[in-house]
Amino acid sequence: MTTQTLTITRPDDWHLHVRDGEMLGAVLPDTARQFARAIIMPNLKPPVATVELALAYRDRILAALPDEADFEPLMTLYLTEQTTPDDIRQAADNPFVHAVKYYPAGATTNAASGVRDLERVMPVIEEMEKQGLPLLMHGEVTDSEIDIFDREAVFIERHLDGLVKRFPGLPMVFEHITTSAAVDFVLAAPDNVAATITAHHLLLNRNAIFDGGLRPHHYCLPVLKRESNRQSLVKAATSGNPKFFLGTDSAPHPKSAKESDCGCAGVYSALHAMEFYAEVFDDAGALDKLEGFASFHGPDFYRLPRNPDTLTLVAEPQEIPETVDFAVEDGVPLRAGGQTRWSVRY
Ligand code: NCD
Ligand code: ZN
Repeated sequence: MTTQTLTITRPDDWHLHVRDGEMLGAVLPDTARQFARAIIMPNLKPPVATVELALAYRDRILAALPDEADFEPLMTLYLTEQTTPDDIRQAADNPFVHAVKYYPAGATTNAASGVRDLERVMPVIEEMEKQGLPLLMHGEVTDSEIDIFDREAVFIERHLDGLVKRFPGLPMVFEHITTSAAVDFVLAAPDNVAATITAHHLLLNRNAIFDGGLRPHHYCLPVLKRESNRQSLVKAATSGNPKFFLGTDSAPHPKSAKESDCGCAGVYSALHAMEFYAEVFDDAGALDKLEGFASFHGPDFYRLPRNPDTLTLVAEPQEIPETVDFAVEDGVPLRAGGQTRWSVRY
């Protein structure tokens, strides 16, 4: 029997953390091997809150790329309560800035500068709507009274529903959705509302955090949810609906920062991202839908051209190392010490 192969238009990653400094140089090649472009998250310290900072960060990313890489970082601005409509006009006029990221203050890694009161940023969001500049949302409330497994659903009720009604012309991406409630919301919303889905939320449910003991490398935000939610995500991702597209949310942290008494949130999935997505689509009997999800729906939503080149996957396993070198320290990739079922053929 010949090995099954799948050639698709080269994919893009619509939600990615690559950090900065030495760690940037260590993690970036994993993404640049597979993906032609990635939406780069702005949650550095200090946050990438202006066009000037975004362009400087872009230069550092380009400088960190291996010589042979063919990869374009798509920059984003971090929305703060100090962001002005003028910042938005500058961003919209700049060919390298593609979106603005909303973090509720304190929601996740480096989110201290996020938005406390959405009403305060309404003039900024109005300008984004005018300019057609996409708003990317970390869709969770941060209220400690709300159960952590319910924070996405409560965000929809308290904030997202109102935002979608108020800004019918604003491209909005509900990032890294994790629940059936989010899938249903996006399906019912108008065409200006889309969502990204990570590989780890498609592969794992919340049991993976407690599998025989506490598994810090499966802790991310939004936190993994119960199996019925995972199944809804798989159904949405493999449906062919253009509202859903690939965003890994690969979020590297040094091993010691994960394996700690207060471990950081984030899964490092970039090493074998496309292999993991291929496995999910294969299991769902939907390999024919992978190209749309990974390579078409994202650029179409962002009004960017689809990539001209291709990526080939083969149904052959590959060993996943126990650790990867993050320069500052080792990191632990998703499914460390295990195997992929698919491999990208380079
Ligand atoms: C991200 C990070 O580490 O920057 N962590 C995560 O668990 N996804 C932040 C984020 O996107 O929430
Ligand atoms: Zn993220």
